Amino acid sequence: MGKKAQATAILDSVNSSGRHYRDSLPMIASENILSPMVAKAVNSDLHGRYAEGLPGKRYYQGCDDFDSIESLGIESAKRVFNCNFTNIQSTSGTVSNIAALKALAKPGDTITAVSTADGGHISHARMGAVGVRGLGLVTYPWDIDRMEPDIDASIKIIRETKPNLALFGQSVFLFPTPLRELADAAHEVGAKVMYDGAHVLGLIAGGQFQDPLREGADVMTGSSHKTFPGPQGGFVLSDSSDEKFHRKLNNSIFPGTCSSYHLHHVAGKAVALAEFEEFGSDYAKNIVSNAQSLASALAAEGFDVLAEDRGYTASHQVLTRHGEIDSGAGRKAADLLEKSGIITNMNMLPGDTKAMQPSGLRLGVPELTRVGMGIDEMKDVANFFARALIKNEETSKIKSDVREFKSNYQTVKYCFDEGPAYPGLE
Ligand SMILES: Cc1ncc(COP(=O)(O)O)c(C=O)c1O
Repeated sequence: MGKKAQATAILDSVNSSGRHYRDSLPMIASENILSPMVAKAVNSDLHGRYAEGLPGKRYYQGCDDFDSIESLGIESAKRVFNCNFTNIQSTSGTVSNIAALKALAKPGDTITAVSTADGGHISHARMGAVGVRGLGLVTYPWDIDRMEPDIDASIKIIRETKPNLALFGQSVFLFPTPLRELADAAHEVGAKVMYDGAHVLGLIAGGQFQDPLREGADVMTGSSHKTFPGPQGGFVLSDSSDEKFHRKLNNSIFPGTCSSYHLHHVAGKAVALAEFEEFGSDYAKNIVSNAQSLASALAAEGFDVLAEDRGYTASHQVLTRHGEIDSGAGRKAADLLEKSGIITNMNMLPGDTKAMQPSGLRLGVPELTRVGMGIDEMKDVANFFARALIKNEETSKIKSDVREFKSNYQTVKYCFDEGPAYPGLE
């Protein structure tokens, strides 16, 4: 293949991927779409620029406009997350975590965190950022029924281990962490407390989940593109008023973990923050009510939905089990759903030990909510699941029905200047 043909083939696949999502029900819990104004900022000249340092204190010339952008973004983030300190430069949730781990712990220190098997993120594990920082890891005992750290046993672990840092938050995240009790125990033994809100940041900012910075977290990190509906990137947040600590956190992003911090995404984040100030609490409320509606509708269709006793979910996620532990039933279900026009991910559930052969699915509703679906549409979505996985209908027929259904939800909401949710497709 000639090189131009190769480049053209890549663009064709980019388009094809866009059409795939446009015509499907995208239900990956960590994904979202851009508003038209955020997309403008992201697709701008800033893409090619550098601005090392902070507003007013740059190492490069040419940054006056970007200084205003970043300053507006920082102030907006302080209002959105209700805190004294925000750094909006991080290029991802993982980078935010590496930076926070750099600021809060030193190599050889011990941290406590949720294990990846129980829903902790890879950056909380030795294979990820915790290992990169050379930290010792002790994981919390898990309460399977409540789908959260077992409070008494975790307090005991914290008291015995005396970690330097207690990290909370998960990728599989149905219910708020019982943070007050656990943070108190951590502070008693002299540990700092970090809360990774990558998944639930938009729910937190929208007042719908929990308020970690008031419940004992010294630092909160997160992604800017999951339930917080901005461009790919991250935040580092704290309510401390200690300026020395602020400098430490800023330095842990630049020069600690980033040189270029993707100015176009910082501008996109600043726009997304302004939009969140206007529309965020409605968006967060509707995400949670949609997740609860989807969970009940799936249970009514006959699915095994986790955490029935707690009302299934208090977040943007729903967990379903599709067969025996370690059977790979989650993988099979995800495959069948994709053939039917529904994009999900297989997920380990309590008891599973094989990441590639799990029994469950993790479902998310941020994108379906963003294109205007509400609690009634969640029943339609559950019905598509039942046709694919319980009634074993022909997947091509379901896929064409999904496509027709989705054609009614093609506008991105909860933003200024609503516009095409999947723009620029040929
Ligand atoms: C709890 C948690 N932390 C961090 C991350 C990493 O975020 P990013 O993908 O923005 O690096 C994720 C990703 O899903 C996550 O679930």
